[in-house]
Amino acid sequence: MGGLSRAQKIKSGLQIVIGGHLVAAGIATYIGNEKWYQHVVMPTLRLLQPETAHSLAVKCAKHGIIPQMKTVQYESLKTTVWGKQFENPIGLAAGFDKNGEAVDGMLKMGFGFVEVGSITPQPQPGNPKPRMFRLTQDQAIINRCGFNSDGHDTVYDRLRTRLIPWLGPVVPDDRNMLNENLWSPDRPTIQGKHVPAPGIVGVNLGKNKDTKDAAVDYIAGVKKFGELADYLVINVSSPNTPGLRALQGKEQLTKLIDQVLAERAKLSRKIKPPLLVKISPDLTEQDKADVAFVVGRYKGGVEGLIVSNTTVARSPSLKSRWKGEEGGLSGAPLKEKSTQTIRDMYRLTQGRIPIIGVGGISTGQDAYEKFRAGASLIQVYSALSFAGPPLLPKMKAELAEILEKEGITSISEVVGADLKTESNHAVAA
Ligand SMILES: Cc1cc2nc3c(=O)[nH]c(=O)nc-3n(C[C@H](O)[C@H](O)[C@H](O)COP(=O)(O)O)c2cc1C
Repeated sequence: MGGLSRAQKIKSGLQIVIGGHLVAAGIATYIGNEKWYQHVVMPTLRLLQPETAHSLAVKCAKHGIIPQMKTVQYESLKTTVWGKQFENPIGLAAGFDKNGEAVDGMLKMGFGFVEVGSITPQPQPGNPKPRMFRLTQDQAIINRCGFNSDGHDTVYDRLRTRLIPWLGPVVPDDRNMLNENLWSPDRPTIQGKHVPAPGIVGVNLGKNKDTKDAAVDYIAGVKKFGELADYLVINVSSPNTPGLRALQGKEQLTKLIDQVLAERAKLSRKIKPPLLVKISPDLTEQDKADVAFVVGRYKGGVEGLIVSNTTVARSPSLKSRWKGEEGGLSGAPLKEKSTQTIRDMYRLTQGRIPIIGVGGISTGQDAYEKFRAGASLIQVYSALSFAGPPLLPKMKAELAEILEKEGITSISEVVGADLKTESNHAVAA
């Protein structure tokens, strides 16, 4: 550097410093450093409109651009529900990957299962934008997306394509082969290596805005996705499709489930995909009792509840400027309401129907409370949009640590512990 002028020396010094910082930033992003995401990546993403940031996140996951975080498997978090083995009980909630574009990326990120949807039979644009609002101060989101969806055919093709290693490229007329062989020990090999299991993927079904008879759309969903899905969800609880939540009423729900189950019975799979109903946290006590009564009527019929969707209620404690926006509220302010609804549904169904608990979970402790209330599995959405991918290893480590401290060897032992404690107290009294 002897012949360089002072200006040139400063310039190359600066280049080295900036280059060094860029490399360090790249490494921190690549390895999913929690503090880096918390203080730099996520605040930067928050400069974008919420829906733009969300689309970017989906695109990154779609193309496998996700941090290469250390994946630790915890024995205590492994669980079996509906005869399916979950490597961990934390799933991605519906609405994040509405169109089944990012399933493999999200599984790779560390989710134990992914739920795609809600999917409507025909493609539809949803409500006008802006329709997603970030309430950062409240760690919450308000959305009124209104089921923007690519429609059944497109999403089916995506989900089918990712299964080609297991099922081959041709969609067989006789769909019998599209089933449990995905899980068999004789599953396919590529160049002598077992293709890893395809992960657990649930499909959440919605209805088109203009469809008069909702059952027609849900039946179409069962027919289309019944052979591929690990479980099916009838979503009757989004607040953004007029009339949808009325389907949770006793008579309407009975009629709808009867029709959907009749369609499911026609599937050629030997073991039919479990059917779940996703409910609102805004149900009255009577509504909850009615839902429990209806789902309890079917032996081997409705095999799960997802509790809960977003709420239309607004607590006076909300601080953010977007708190007055219309739509469904999710994230931290939903947490207690959702946990209470899980507790109620677990009690009303006598713990016979597995519940996926969702609403405001952002830590291992939040997750633990959902299991204690009665959840067998949990899901997250809003917290992921605030914390980014490091959320998963953090939550898993926290949850595993709580279990270890409590001397619990399996998460399944915790399910419904609140109710058991309550009844022990009642007996003692
Ligand atoms: C932007 C957005 C879109 C959503 N879309 C759907 C949807 O299409 N179908 C559905 O069943 N739930 C949908 N949800 C609800 C979530 O699946 C979940 O039930 C709710 O957000 C509560 O979880 P959280 O507090 O972890 O976000 C959506 C949530 C958000 C924030």
